[in-house]
Amino acid sequence: MTTLDDGRDAEPITDPADSRASERARVGADALDRAACAQRDADDPLRGFRDEFVLPPETIYLDGNSLGAQTKGAAERAQDVISQEWGTGLIRSWNDAGWFDLPAVLGDKVAGLVGGGAGATVVTDTTSINLFKAASAACKIQTADAPGRRVILTQRENFPSDIYMLEGLAEQLGDGWEVRLVDDAEVTAGFPTALTDEVAFVVLTHVNYRTGRLFDMESTTSAIHAGGALAIWDLCHSAGALEIDLAGSGADLAVGCTYKFLNGGPGSPAFVWVSEALRTRFTQPLSGWWGHKQPFEMEPSYTPAEGIRRYLTGTQGIISMSVAEVGLDIHSRADMAAVRQKSLALSDLFIELVDSRLSHHPVEVVTPREHAQRGSQVSITHPEGFAVMSALIERGVIGDYREPEVLRFGLTPLYVGFADVWDTVEVLRDILDNRLWDAPQHKVRGAVT
Ligand SMILES: Cc1ncc(COP(=O)(O)O)c(C=O)c1O
Repeated sequence: MTTLDDGRDAEPITDPADSRASERARVGADALDRAACAQRDADDPLRGFRDEFVLPPETIYLDGNSLGAQTKGAAERAQDVISQEWGTGLIRSWNDAGWFDLPAVLGDKVAGLVGGGAGATVVTDTTSINLFKAASAACKIQTADAPGRRVILTQRENFPSDIYMLEGLAEQLGDGWEVRLVDDAEVTAGFPTALTDEVAFVVLTHVNYRTGRLFDMESTTSAIHAGGALAIWDLCHSAGALEIDLAGSGADLAVGCTYKFLNGGPGSPAFVWVSEALRTRFTQPLSGWWGHKQPFEMEPSYTPAEGIRRYLTGTQGIISMSVAEVGLDIHSRADMAAVRQKSLALSDLFIELVDSRLSHHPVEVVTPREHAQRGSQVSITHPEGFAVMSALIERGVIGDYREPEVLRFGLTPLYVGFADVWDTVEVLRDILDNRLWDAPQHKVRGAVT
């Protein structure tokens, strides 16, 4: 047993790989409770997955909601694609290594994680571009089915790129199309006022990127359909983090990324999904040759592919796509119910510790406390949020910061543990108690926060 500076006894360090324990002792953590957290990690049925990720020493990584941690298989896969498939196979690899089919092969793997069914998803492009394509399809379908409807509804607090893309689309279409913004409260209440007979379709992000608020897909989609509109979901902050049943919920179209909770790698390609009901009707305006029915016939005019390949546009980034597959394969082996259960347990613990150990500071938990309304992150506000996050990162606890005042902590159940949460709150307490954020280096902002 070690004796701390203040005379208390600390538990011995139980995890030899984790030398951060000594820091915890220095900042005055309650060792008994940390031991309980470590025990929960030891009992965690998902614990084995942690070994499949590259987690730098002396680092607690809580930004998987922005960029997922590197998979251990990524480097080897990239090396293989570059050296063998590209280096030796050369152009033959479009056929021989299955490059041409990768968007649909990966699409089915994503679909397995989000309840999309086979043949309904492709992995390609960015979320922003896929949203433009999906929203264009919704415009065209509603122009045929409900020509008077020219309003696109989305959350005021949606990720800005979604709003920007919809604005760009409305401007491109002209002819009375407009984007209207609704508050989260309107969405959770089932659209009591905003879903008028002018609304053609609604675009909703499943989990709010800033607060971590989760919207109920099934009841919200039903409300949208009852109002005569189509529902497009953005799954960027939920795919890989919680159980999703796209087809079962009646959703019409969906998009999402693979670089957050699916660990695809920085800028890895996104996905787009179409419901069975719209499978023969959806179109897209970016009618490049990869979405053509017979791209190598080199016909002078465009005939769309019959299936989901129609949502492709141009030549795909094969190295990035191949690396993304490694992340998808790891997630495909995980039980999503267990992932969700652990995610909620981690965020419960985080919130409980913020409540009990930081109550003497001006911090507020802005993530909903109800499980049914919570994604897989905890967001708290502090008036000096940016500087506090900078100080945390300096101490090896990596989350991120979003305006205004929001510190985000992403909880990826496959590699984040209960002791990580305990340690994070203890380091945060030390930073706040001792105003360690109040230093010049924590006021300097890079291009990316
Ligand atoms: C909810 C949401 N939608 C869309 C995007 C934009 O994604 P992309 O940069 O792949 O277009 C993001 C990016 O973080 C996001 O969080």
